[in-house]
Amino acid sequence: MKQDENHATFPQFPESYWLASTDIPSFPKPSEDIQVDVAIVGAGITGITTAYLLSKKGLNVAVVDAGRILHGTTGHTTAKITAQHDLIYSEFLSHFGKEKTRLYYEANRDALQFIRQTVEEYHIDCQFTEEDAYVYTCADTHVEKIADEYKAYKELGIPGRYVEQTPLPFSTKAAIMMENQAQFNPVPFLRYLANQVIQQGGKIYEQTTVAGVEQGNPATLNTSDGYKITCNHVVSSSHFPFNDPNALYFARLHAERSYVLAVKTDRTYPGGMYLSAETPKRSLRSVLIKGEPMVIIGGEGHKTGQGICTFQYYEALEKFAEQTFGLKEIVYRWSAQDLYTLDKLPYIGQELSDVSNILVATGYKKWGMTTSVAAALLNTDLITRKESPYRDLFTPSRFHADPDIKTFVTQNANVAKHLIAGKLEISYKKAEELQQDEGAVIRVNGKRAGAYRDPQGTLHLVDTTCTHMGCEVEWNEAERTWDCPCHGSRYSYQGEVIEGPAKKALGKVESE
Ligand code: FES
Repeated sequence: MKQDENHATFPQFPESYWLASTDIPSFPKPSEDIQVDVAIVGAGITGITTAYLLSKKGLNVAVVDAGRILHGTTGHTTAKITAQHDLIYSEFLSHFGKEKTRLYYEANRDALQFIRQTVEEYHIDCQFTEEDAYVYTCADTHVEKIADEYKAYKELGIPGRYVEQTPLPFSTKAAIMMENQAQFNPVPFLRYLANQVIQQGGKIYEQTTVAGVEQGNPATLNTSDGYKITCNHVVSSSHFPFNDPNALYFARLHAERSYVLAVKTDRTYPGGMYLSAETPKRSLRSVLIKGEPMVIIGGEGHKTGQGICTFQYYEALEKFAEQTFGLKEIVYRWSAQDLYTLDKLPYIGQELSDVSNILVATGYKKWGMTTSVAAALLNTDLITRKESPYRDLFTPSRFHADPDIKTFVTQNANVAKHLIAGKLEISYKKAEELQQDEGAVIRVNGKRAGAYRDPQGTLHLVDTTCTHMGCEVEWNEAERTWDCPCHGSRYSYQGEVIEGPAKKALGKVESE
């Protein structure tokens, strides 16, 4: 389906408002070997905040990113800063008990407080506003779940209220509200922190892939350009961990994509941040774009590389916007990728239990604004104080029989299914049948190949075998990318890596 013919109201290409509205400085590649106290791989909210905290404490840091800073999930979030992570507390109480669930809440509450205090103290202009957060339901099937969550709030001492009707302009059956949460534009906030890293003597490098790490004390990172970064500690904050020696993250994480629209509406937005308890998920918040109030609508999550025609997800959000608020204009559209762990708790801390100087932070589900800051605070404590009250809760080497085993089996059966299905898939489409701005799996010289004809008519051919572990990538028509259904690697239409775990580009294919 060609979106410019059938979806005239959509911007033709995805673009995040957060990135489009903020000038971000560029940073060089390394031009020599580097020696620092801490090397941080990945310059999203986790990496930049960790670098800020450590450099403020006087440590010498270097942050290295494979692309541009803040251009991963951080730049594509809905940017809600809240400890209300869907209906998580009643579930966590039953799996992990009261003490650990309370710690999870406190880690995220403290992360919100860190952002609030930093914005206030340094007068950072980033559209930070306090909002109440709601999880609501319009379905009878979910009323009891909301009631259970409210019971969990009371047991844990979380400030909140149970209500039947939210301020939204449609009727709801039940909702749970968490007071005084917040929203912002993360990019100017993090641009401030990145500037502070530089002021505090730290270094930031872009367009630099870390090819591997030599464990030891000090540890050594090898960059793709042949330089070495020697350091006492390594922090992996590259979304999917850049280094997976024996930790098997590819089998313990799965990737999901979701979609976002920023829209002008007929009806006035009532304030607050909202999430539906039932699927399809609907996430709502307000935003000011060039001084004009607009609504951000997110939702429609699915496993990466396993979606239907991806433009249909944007269309579903468009329909919801029209029905709920009256749609005047879609100003921006973008999508995000999130990683899920087996037990829904993030992996933060020592990557391997017997290697104390390589730390990791990943698996935030869709709640990266607070969890990333909680991760930065925790890893900073582990590096500087060797201790933290959250160490055991988030340790990546934990294992819970329930729910880890069940999720592990389901998830890896899904990977095996896609590994085989991709090899058997037959495509009869020919390159000459592709219209401009259309991509598809085709056959070239009898073999599966990925083809995209760009708006100028040039055909781009790639080998569709993912360079991570050999699954077959699928075309994502809304984003013009090749996405892997197994562990979520993504590639541009020319085959370059956009998201790991893959590190190598897709192979090239010569046309017939
Ligand atoms: Fe693992 Fe593609 S991401 S095989």
